[in-house]
Amino acid sequence: MINLDLFDDAAEEGASTDSSREDPEQLMRRLIELLVRWEHAYYVLDAPEVPDSEFDQVYRALQKLEEDHPTLIQPDSPTQRVGGKPSEGFLQVRHRVPMLSLGNAFEDDDVLAFDRRVKELADLPANAVVDYTTDPKFDGLAISIHYRNGKFEQAVTRGDGTVGEDVSSNVRTIRSLPLKLKGDRIPANLEVRGEIFMFKKDFAQMNQRQAELGLKVFANPRNAAAGTIRQLDPKIAASRPLRFFCYGAALEREHLRELKTQSALMKWLAEMGLPVSSLSQTAKGAEGLLNFYRHVGDGRSELPFEIDGVVYKVDSFDLQDQLGFVAKAPRFAVAHKFPPDEVLSRLLNIEVQVGRTGSITPVAKLEPVKVGGVVVSSATLHNLDEIQRKDLRVGDQVLVRRAGDVIPEVLPFSGNVRNEGSVAFVMPAHCPVCNSLVQKEEGESAFRCTGGLVCRAQLTQAIIHFAHRRAIDIEGLGSKMVEVLVNREWVKTPADLFRLQFEDLVQLERMGEKSARNLLDSIHKAKQTSFGRFLFALGIRHVGEATARDLALHFRDVNNLMAASVDDLLKVNDVGPVVAESIRQFFNEPANQSVVHELIALGISWPEDQVEETDVNHPFFQKTFVLTGSLSQFSRDEASALILARGGKVVGSVSKKTDFVLAGESAGSKLDKATSLGIAVLDEQTFQGML
Ligand code: IVH
Repeated sequence: MINLDLFDDAAEEGASTDSSREDPEQLMRRLIELLVRWEHAYYVLDAPEVPDSEFDQVYRALQKLEEDHPTLIQPDSPTQRVGGKPSEGFLQVRHRVPMLSLGNAFEDDDVLAFDRRVKELADLPANAVVDYTTDPKFDGLAISIHYRNGKFEQAVTRGDGTVGEDVSSNVRTIRSLPLKLKGDRIPANLEVRGEIFMFKKDFAQMNQRQAELGLKVFANPRNAAAGTIRQLDPKIAASRPLRFFCYGAALEREHLRELKTQSALMKWLAEMGLPVSSLSQTAKGAEGLLNFYRHVGDGRSELPFEIDGVVYKVDSFDLQDQLGFVAKAPRFAVAHKFPPDEVLSRLLNIEVQVGRTGSITPVAKLEPVKVGGVVVSSATLHNLDEIQRKDLRVGDQVLVRRAGDVIPEVLPFSGNVRNEGSVAFVMPAHCPVCNSLVQKEEGESAFRCTGGLVCRAQLTQAIIHFAHRRAIDIEGLGSKMVEVLVNREWVKTPADLFRLQFEDLVQLERMGEKSARNLLDSIHKAKQTSFGRFLFALGIRHVGEATARDLALHFRDVNNLMAASVDDLLKVNDVGPVVAESIRQFFNEPANQSVVHELIALGISWPEDQVEETDVNHPFFQKTFVLTGSLSQFSRDEASALILARGGKVVGSVSKKTDFVLAGESAGSKLDKATSLGIAVLDEQTFQGML
């Protein structure tokens, strides 16, 4: 017998928890009701009620019950989403109400013109304020879903707008889609219109899985969704993370008259359990539309799914009727597109940049193009392998993409016609800045300039790192200023910063007496530091903030550390052979030794007992944190600093080794992962309390 004692929820709803006496059909219905509610909470409301494990447990209980009583299986059971055998092909179906397309607006002016035209055609005064509904424009494929007497009946693709294909068996598998509508206002026939797509993180995971299995990898979530819906075997669709949101319905006149507005329609659809995006709103007049556009555009990259614009619809159905249609698009609605996030450009040159550790990074110089709202004229190509993999050559036409992420990406363009005589890129043999030899280290994809601090590029980056807020923290010493100081050869090592003279600084362009004095003050202030910060500031390869702290905690004294052997170093928490070797090499270098001694002679110091300030009993001590979402009281840097100061560590991704996840507003996949691994999740308030 199934143990249902854990289903407090069912008890709350007035159902009996004593499952042993319940008849199987009743129990089946109860389990279905529970699972459907949890699916709705998870997929539609985005507010899970129970952990996945609990869902799975009940799901399996239902499966078992259905196995024992196959004649009692309910058609709306969540186990019945995948039914039947693969089909031979899809049947053509004529839409009862055609599926239209939308006119496009690109500029604010187009939106003003749309609003003006609505008023003109409706004989409204020019200063009237029209009510609109505003939605995101989902980037997937359109679908029309027919519910008869509240039960899922058929799903048909848009096709040519008049005739589409019956893809019901695949659409049934979408877990955000109810198989049965709820409530007491269910129409006899309802044709819901909406979009099928994938969430970005689900898409990425799926693609990774596909790649691991040696299967097809999709170019983007839209292609993946469209490709999945066209699979003949519904098991494939069931195994892929399809989502659905509705944005309207084809309704009979009587319902339209009763509902009056698009916003009332959407509310009603949501009440029946259909997924409606929480981004959908109402807006007043053109100004309201443009505000919505900006608001959604600003948050676009943080959205869990891709959108290519927003959609405006006149709210009143009466007014919609008055406006009517042109060709295949309504006059009462328009799609306001975001600037494209993938644009054609040309690769003008490949230059190389020298980083702090000498790494040589190839950078694409591009014909300037506007992508995702910003002009892009250069973009990192990461490394030689990447250029070879993408087969990019100077002169090629390339695609520049800025999807969500801030860093633009350069992609090969399939229609490129290669210039005759173009040659493959080769890494320079000598550093373009200091002319030292460039070497590729074994097992690494990076090439490095061997010049060390002789190389001006490396020196500049090293000084910028040294002065960073998280390192020695010289307030007001920005990267431009560092470049000037290095170019004047006033700063050849970090120690030289502490030898800068007021008389020299005031001569610099745009440097008044006050700024010169402020800079010297901050440099002076920075002398009081901590051992951990000092070590981090030195910029030893592979020694990040957390390792620097661990080293400080372990060695206490800089001379101890400088004298430590690789074996000694390996005893430090989280220090492996690569890190130990790198530290040893750094201190073997006489130049580095003397910089350390000079810095100390110039007055850099830290309280002796400082490391002991870390409270070993603090709950954060030696704990690993992952931060996700946005915090309201702290910046991420601040939160990290607070954790580090208490002996904790902050890493980028959640794994079994993570102790705490600090989750702010709109935390995403990291939070999901933490929950599934059973890792402690702290909200901001709890975090503050623990501090
Ligand atoms: S309304 C009468 N709303 O965009 C017009 N369409 O170009 C019915 N789309 O194929 C469409 N998000 O699949 C509407 N919030 C939204 C939408 C949306 C995406 C798609 C739709 C259609 C295309 C129209």
